[in-house]
Amino acid sequence: MTTIPSAPADLLADEAAYLDAVARARQAADAYYGSGESGMDDDTYDRLLRGITAWEVEHPDLVAADSPTREVAAGVTSGDVEHAVRMLSLGNVFSEEDLRDWAASVERRLGGRAVAAWVVEPKLDGVALAARYREGKLVQLVTRGDGSTGEDVSHVIGDLTGLPQELTEPVTVEVRGEVLMTEAQFAAANEARAAHGGAVFANRRNASSGSLRAKDRPYRVQQTFFAYDALTDPAHTSDPGLADLPHSELIGRLEELGLGTTLGTPVGTFACADLDEVLARITAIGTLRPDLPYELDGAVIKADLPADRAEAGFGSRTPHWATAYKYPAAQKITTLLAVEWSVGRTGVIAPRAVLEPVEVGGTTITYATLHNPADIRRRDLMIGDQVTVYRAGEVIPRVEGAMTTLRTGAEQVIEFPDACPRCGAGIDRSQERWRCERGRVCGQVEAIRYAVARDCLDIEGLGEKIVVQLVEKDLIEDFADLFTLTRGQLLDLDRMGEVSADKLVDAIAGAKTRPLNRVFCALGVLGTGRSMSLRIATYFGSMDAITAADAAALELVDGIGGEKAPVIVAEVAELAPVIAKLKAAGVNLDQPGWVPPAAPDAESDAEPGEGLPLAGLAVVVTGGMSGPLADYTRTQMNELIARAGGKASSSVSKKTGLVVAGENAGSKLAKAADLGIETITPEQFAERIAEFLAAPA
Ligand code: IVH
Repeated sequence: MTTIPSAPADLLADEAAYLDAVARARQAADAYYGSGESGMDDDTYDRLLRGITAWEVEHPDLVAADSPTREVAAGVTSGDVEHAVRMLSLGNVFSEEDLRDWAASVERRLGGRAVAAWVVEPKLDGVALAARYREGKLVQLVTRGDGSTGEDVSHVIGDLTGLPQELTEPVTVEVRGEVLMTEAQFAAANEARAAHGGAVFANRRNASSGSLRAKDRPYRVQQTFFAYDALTDPAHTSDPGLADLPHSELIGRLEELGLGTTLGTPVGTFACADLDEVLARITAIGTLRPDLPYELDGAVIKADLPADRAEAGFGSRTPHWATAYKYPAAQKITTLLAVEWSVGRTGVIAPRAVLEPVEVGGTTITYATLHNPADIRRRDLMIGDQVTVYRAGEVIPRVEGAMTTLRTGAEQVIEFPDACPRCGAGIDRSQERWRCERGRVCGQVEAIRYAVARDCLDIEGLGEKIVVQLVEKDLIEDFADLFTLTRGQLLDLDRMGEVSADKLVDAIAGAKTRPLNRVFCALGVLGTGRSMSLRIATYFGSMDAITAADAAALELVDGIGGEKAPVIVAEVAELAPVIAKLKAAGVNLDQPGWVPPAAPDAESDAEPGEGLPLAGLAVVVTGGMSGPLADYTRTQMNELIARAGGKASSSVSKKTGLVVAGENAGSKLAKAADLGIETITPEQFAERIAEFLAAPA
């Protein structure tokens, strides 16, 4: 498995550096358990703590009395409900090597005997909570606090999915688990907060902890609870059988009692016989992580049997029989330095955040998307704010929100443009997304550059300088005009020799035979990139059919919903003059090898493209292509898949039927293996669709 050293220790040079680190960790922990906003992200905190621990190992006599390594939750004072059994924290490992070392230490505690069985479950990124049931009735909710005492938050009883007010049996038991917000719950919480004049939460955990602890909110916020533990000692429960259950069965029993657990989910609790199986589960959970509706920051590895646990025992802060394997952080906190406004090729004016560079999940991030002006207002952002930045899966990084409690007063209001930043024309503010009043005319050069790029018309030799000259000399207004340019007109351009002009004339003529999906993509219709264009072209088969389609017809194309369809119809109508010019110039406007899709209400249940080798198959291509496909771009691969009756898709899911994995394939390959999806090499794929390789691209 690959391991990314997400949190090596901060190196501390001397005692002064050590004491400074202790003070910083303490301040962050106090703030985190106090306001819920620490201004230090987990990764930074982990690094600091590891540095502190490393220094303390070397200097055991100089350990500070208030070192965060000494207490659970860094010893923050908290509420006033005592925990019958302390709520502990977990140690961390960051690599396979760390994990094997830790497992060896557990086995030493068992007198050299192997751990009988392991169990692996997700490390849910929320807030720890103890739920007390008396004779089956939920009577009290207590936060972890400092581990010994926590805060009573019983006022949220009824707001937590997974914590029923009554169990299925009249059992007395204390259940422990994590409270978190799913994506949808987070959106709803932010909406409710914004509706009551508040700023949106900086991130989900802050939202969870803030919503749990706020007593007098005029609105209610739903959250989700997942149980991962219970007080099973007969001294604490009316169900003495619990004490003997392996962890994997205990979770099943909690589920049976009506509690929320991760059991039914793909990342649920899995028993593993040995460390290799444990590592495979850790990888599997990590692969599934970007697609889950809730956040994970790691996997938890526990000894499964009560007997092993009893023998391994507990340290002062953590059990010896469990640890957390931390994944590289998907979120970090950094400073918002500025907001830049750029104008896209369709005239959309988009803000983007300029950030103090920060490393998230192995990549340094300097820019993040801010969507639109309304979004900036909703998030109540200011220049100079500490903001949470996310980079989940392959998504573009985004700014979630600001730590408003950390403001110093030096923050500055974000200025919104009052004219188009590119051409100075007015701004159309009728929609959330602002647009230059001149629309795509404003982005003429960008639009033409987009149309001739590799994934669209692929016209070589048409660089920016030439496009700018063509536009400035009024020789072209849009890319359709390229097809009527003469050699003489090209020769009039600065620094254009005969050879280059001839080459360009040939390249433009060659582009007349591109398949419909490329030509449609070149139109730059809002919301249609290369893969959506391919889907539209393979569905309709000709430009005439596309221009004749209404919103209802467009919605039959996979991935086009009720919001997108009318936008596409309007855009296509607006582009009618361009399409007419293309037609007049003899540009191909048909999809080669087109097979009409089966009508949705057709009697027969034939698959679309029946008889073709990939009929009805969702195909994902990942990694580098080789063999006969070595020179195929992703767009060409997708076109090939469509010609052979399949559907190209970019992410692996249960619906994927085939994965073509080339060199250096990464997480998609791992996920396919995990889901048991057929995976073949580019060479095997080429053989399977050989008859389509020769067809025109
Ligand atoms: S077991 C005695 N299991 O992680 C064992 N904790 O860093 C203590 N957490 O305070 C906890 N998912 O809030 C356990 N599957 C899981 C967990 C989990 C998330 C949290 C929990 C704990 C923190 C420790």
